[in-house]
Amino acid sequence: MRALLKTLFAVAVIASAPVAAQEGYANTGMSLDGIGKSYMGREIAAVMGFQGAEWLDRADRAKEEGTDKLLPLLGLMPTDVVADIGAGTGYFSFRISPLVPQGKVFAVDIQKEMLEIIDARKTKSHITNVVTVQSSIADPLLPANSVDLMLLVDVYHEFSLPREMGQAMVRALKPGGRIALVEYRAEDTDVPIKTVHKMTEAQARKEMAAVGLTWVSTDSKSLPRQHLMIFRKAP
Ligand SMILES: C[S@@+](CC[C@H](N)C(=O)[O-])C[C@H]1O[C@@H](n2cnc3c(N)ncnc32)[C@H](O)[C@@H]1O
Repeated sequence: MRALLKTLFAVAVIASAPVAAQEGYANTGMSLDGIGKSYMGREIAAVMGFQGAEWLDRADRAKEEGTDKLLPLLGLMPTDVVADIGAGTGYFSFRISPLVPQGKVFAVDIQKEMLEIIDARKTKSHITNVVTVQSSIADPLLPANSVDLMLLVDVYHEFSLPREMGQAMVRALKPGGRIALVEYRAEDTDVPIKTVHKMTEAQARKEMAAVGLTWVSTDSKSLPRQHLMIFRKAP
């Protein structure tokens, strides 16, 4: 169902890509949920469009994905600057906000319609430490060396330029800063998600290493369907 919804709401955000793609990319046949391109042997998924925004806040999400278990695993400090990359409707941004009262949350997305939803929620709830940022497909457009932790939930596999995004995310991390990558487990056939929307741990580690990040840990047990993989920028 989830994969079907993502297919229905997929958007073509790659059309105006001004970036010269680097190594690792190959053209593939266009599949239902893919964009006709692979990176390091993995087919890239189409971006979920804002038309599917309500689905991100569905009532049974916490039960399906164990979302309440995720944030305590991140070891956040009250002063941390966190970037929720591919924030969507801000599902995680607003849950992180009270955990970093002296810090802030950059809610980053390429779709202005998603950011408008977040801004409306900010206004309604009077939350001031969530800052929306409209990114490009190749760069989160955050200040260099500014972020303690980047959280990417169910988004990395949608990046149309993952190498360029990866390099730009590393630039925006503080030295020693971390990336928390949450992706549906491709190794687990019981996870009811189409292949293009999943990642193996091995593939994720290969792609993060390609942009200079060091693997720290993988937790494949705490969440019902996803890996939580932590990577670090050199101190
Ligand atoms: C499946 S949604 C997940 C949203 C959110 N992380 C959550 O779990 O509720 C993926 C989001 O990533 C965004 N996205 C895709 N590619 C992106 C990129 N290169 N930079 C920033 N956001 C991106 C999409 O616009 C979409 O809002």
